[in-house]
Amino acid sequence: MSNYHIKNLEEYYQIYRKSVRNPENFWEEVAEEHFIWRKRWDKVLSWDFTKPEIKWFEGAKLNITENCIDRHLRIRGDKTAILFEPNSHKDKAEHITYMQLYHRVNKFSNVLKDEGIKKGDRVCIYLPMIPELAVSVLACARIGAIHSVVFAGFSSTALSTRINDSDCKMVITSDGSYRGSKTIDLKGIVDEALERCPSIETSLVVKRINSEIFMKEGRDKWLEPLLENADSECEPEIMDAEDPLFILYTSGSTGKPKGMVHTTAGYMIYSAYTFKNVFQYRENDIYWCTADIGWITGHSYIVYGPLANGATSVMFEGVPNYPDFGRFWEIVEKHKVTQFYTAPTAIRALAKEKLEFVENYDLSSLKVLGSVGEPINEEAWHWYNDNIGKKKSPIVDTWWQTETGGIMISPIPFATPTKPTYATLPLPGIQPVLLDENGVEIKENQVDGRLCIKFPWPSIARTIWGNHERYRETYFSAYENQYFTGDGALRDEVGYYRITGRVDDVIIVSGHNLGTAPIEDAVNEHPAVAESAIVGFPHDIKGNALYGYVILKEAGESRVHDNLRKEINQIITEHIGPIAKLDKIQFTSGLPKTRSGKIMRRILRKIACNDTSNLGDTSTLLNPEVVQEIMDNVL
Ligand code: WTA
Repeated sequence: MSNYHIKNLEEYYQIYRKSVRNPENFWEEVAEEHFIWRKRWDKVLSWDFTKPEIKWFEGAKLNITENCIDRHLRIRGDKTAILFEPNSHKDKAEHITYMQLYHRVNKFSNVLKDEGIKKGDRVCIYLPMIPELAVSVLACARIGAIHSVVFAGFSSTALSTRINDSDCKMVITSDGSYRGSKTIDLKGIVDEALERCPSIETSLVVKRINSEIFMKEGRDKWLEPLLENADSECEPEIMDAEDPLFILYTSGSTGKPKGMVHTTAGYMIYSAYTFKNVFQYRENDIYWCTADIGWITGHSYIVYGPLANGATSVMFEGVPNYPDFGRFWEIVEKHKVTQFYTAPTAIRALAKEKLEFVENYDLSSLKVLGSVGEPINEEAWHWYNDNIGKKKSPIVDTWWQTETGGIMISPIPFATPTKPTYATLPLPGIQPVLLDENGVEIKENQVDGRLCIKFPWPSIARTIWGNHERYRETYFSAYENQYFTGDGALRDEVGYYRITGRVDDVIIVSGHNLGTAPIEDAVNEHPAVAESAIVGFPHDIKGNALYGYVILKEAGESRVHDNLRKEINQIITEHIGPIAKLDKIQFTSGLPKTRSGKIMRRILRKIACNDTSNLGDTSTLLNPEVVQEIMDNVL
């Protein structure tokens, strides 16, 4: 029985049981199946969740780009690897074959080397969704440089924090980007960031929008002329299985963003394996994931997973509502997309529009639909299922995290019967458990618990860049010998998991993880602000939106308040990015606090959600009177 293309539930259970009974054997079998190894591993797995230390395929040597590109040249050289669909529907799509990708990546790799980038150096990539983004990611991987892609919607402060955290030597950016009918001055944002980034020696600039930009002598270089002169062959650097492949930052509930470190062999195997199974990928499929490569979904399921399988991966530069809300479906029709993977927030936004936008297009090529990033509510699930999948394409509600590197809990299309709002069953090799607050395993059905994973899988992040202790503390200290996800979940009578949401102070807004503490820090930078607290509340399209409670140093009048709201959001935009703007800002004279001085967020959350029937015990509060004031003035 193959570990791939699981045909029915019975087969799933057989493979699942096999994977749990002997995980080492299971993953070894997967590793032996398709990949090019320059040297075989000595040991499949060694692990200790208390340190924590996890190693997969120790002793093996490989290069991931050989597996994602070179391996396919003989049989798939002329096949499209990346199908680039530009921002404007009037511009032609670009088909980049595996052979062309090979040459582009090799040339880019040589440019990096010529600019002094060596194995182990960190390179920050701050680019829009254009082919150079995928090419530069792969070029770093080819020469063993560690890429750190920063989503190009982040502000200059967020960018400089990330560059400095991992001491990047180079940043790769563009003169600007298109976003629907607008253009964005990316290079300007980079220039601002680099004023605070002493480690950056060079910035390579891709020409995308042909705008006049400032180029700093000695630091900024146009990419095109360098590529023209570069050699088109670059021997791949031979990497150890556990050499870092990339760093990707994710928000924590406190402090600065966490640079999650993923390593080479385990990540490659897991992203490839899950891509093939979860999307039931077949050779001639046209697969499209709408995420940005700035997030883990783009890393694993636009670049590495699909390319490791020799697939055609669509890369879309634009937005769902430009030129109108039919854009996604126009692209599906045009390229005959077979698998479509997007986020609930996009589905909700599209479901709000006229159905004509969908009905104008032929979606009959679709076979599998995917959802990721946040819980998909029942209404959105049905809209997706009825109107896009026409009730014949299974929806894979895939639960996973930046830290997990790949999909962990998901239906397998045509094998696992789907159930709205349930991510359903763990993939082979994944061993979830639900724990109560005291760490006792919950065996009953329909009881909300904390979702943990009790055994390592190949693509678990190995550390937080520069801060292993924070890694231990965040993921392995809450419960002994468990990886703690930070999510709540419950299980139904057949063992299906339903993810109920974060149990920490991370709020998922439009599928983006936002820690409350960094946003509060930004708000508190405003000279008029004394203190603030931010909570989430339900939002029709975004899933959650942010509600800020702000104490001013001096109470102002309402006229002043409106200006202050704008200024506060401006500061947030500068520090983090527009995605973290507050939807509502309530000025208050105090915040409910415990006697030890901790803000009682539970109460603030309930008030913001209009759920004040039972505020729970407020007797331990230092200042219970403030609760009434806040309730009276809720927005
Ligand atoms: C949430 C995205 C419910 C969850 C791949 C997780 C989900 C966080 C789902 C990770 C889902 C992701 N159902 N919740 N199918 N997928 N989440 O790191 O809270 O951007 O912990 O990775 O998103 O977000 P991240």
